[in-house]
Amino acid sequence: MIPQKNDHFGPTNPFRPGMGLDPPYLADRAAQLDRFDKYLTGFPTFPRNVRLTGLRGVGKTVLLQHYAAAAEARGWVVVRRECSEHLQTESTFALALVEDCRSAVEHSSRNLAFRQRSSVAVRRALDLLGGLTVTLEGVTLAVKPPTFATGQPAMLEDRLFQALELACEGAAAGHHPGVLFCYDEAQVLSDTPRRRQFPLGIFLASVARAQRLGLAVMLVVCGLPTLTDNLARAKSYSERMFQAELLDALRPPEDVLAFTRPIQAAGRSVDTGVVESVRRDTGGYPFHIQFFGALLWEACSPSATITNSDFERHRPTILRALDGAFFDARLARTSGLERRVLGAVAAGGEVASLQSVREGVNLPNRRMQPLIAELETKGLLYRPERGRLAFTVPLFGDYLRRNRGAA
Ligand SMILES: Nc1ncnc2c1ncn2[C@@H]1O[C@H](COP(=O)(O)OP(=O)(O)OP(=O)(O)O)[C@@H](O)[C@H]1O
Ligand SMILES: [Mg+2]
Repeated sequence: MIPQKNDHFGPTNPFRPGMGLDPPYLADRAAQLDRFDKYLTGFPTFPRNVRLTGLRGVGKTVLLQHYAAAAEARGWVVVRRECSEHLQTESTFALALVEDCRSAVEHSSRNLAFRQRSSVAVRRALDLLGGLTVTLEGVTLAVKPPTFATGQPAMLEDRLFQALELACEGAAAGHHPGVLFCYDEAQVLSDTPRRRQFPLGIFLASVARAQRLGLAVMLVVCGLPTLTDNLARAKSYSERMFQAELLDALRPPEDVLAFTRPIQAAGRSVDTGVVESVRRDTGGYPFHIQFFGALLWEACSPSATITNSDFERHRPTILRALDGAFFDARLARTSGLERRVLGAVAAGGEVASLQSVREGVNLPNRRMQPLIAELETKGLLYRPERGRLAFTVPLFGDYLRRNRGAA
């Protein structure tokens, strides 16, 4: 391998700790990408969608980007969106989806312009989607539903289906095989029956209908594990609608390669003891590996080998920096009582039974429940299964135990 020389301190730091930053070596994703490729080629006769879930920093956004790139390489039109809480009402969600459909059509027509300057289908789609946006803007759809040409009041689901249909028509006119919707942070999407808002259910119903009718539209939703529950509540058939991809720590030997490959590719080497220590400290979690890698790389520059004694010397500083970068801010958003709950979960590792947490906190159930609910809302805890609680942030328990005195 050729080292990248850019200055006299040595090659550029190859690690990429951050959000959605493509790592220097994409570890342990060959199987997911292979499956995704098969899903793409199955359209439109065998439509499949993907539900991509995992804890914070396990590499969901990165994989989503690779999905998008794979689809684009096959000529698909790709729409990307990072979901936010304001999409929890039907009208804002509908606006967002229509906007996404419009951008898909525009993308199709841009490509098309190379070959034939106009296309009836694309122009019709753009006109209609423009009309939909105007109709939806600022209007509570449940109160004032727009009407179709038949004079019948249109359900929101019909309108969203129509938007998807137009996006697919536009794509087909531009000779694209289909339209892929990549929705990141999708755990924030949910229905709230008490406010009579069902954006997620309506969305799933319109996608399912489009796929039943043979339209090449594919959906990838990506987010924290709570996404699965939200989807199931919105539509009981969601289990059958999505292929589940569950990301966790990288599996051996890829957890080690994620750390060693970038170092070697840049022309440096690392002692085996360091490799094992990093594997232990990071638990094989992608963000943690990038973080350790980047800081070790810099701390040990410009020496050619990262040695065991380098590691021992720098480890405390790196752990403190990791706490500051990944954990401290999350803990700062909690109250004293909430921290007791978190401490009780951490007592047993990264997952605990509700029973043991109750005993650990020693509060009556009626006081415990709201605390747990608040920690779930803050995105710190979730229920991996009935009667159990876990952290949404990998190694959060480890962090709490390390800083027990300070918390
Ligand atoms: N397969 C991988 N191999 C090595 N490093 C990876 C891999 N996937 C992601 N990373 C690294 O992990 C970090 C987190 O990635 P990403 O932002 O995709 O995680 P995420 O699951 O989307 O996190 P969040 O839940 O906070 O949105 C980034 O620094 C990225 O470079
Ligand atoms: Mg992400």
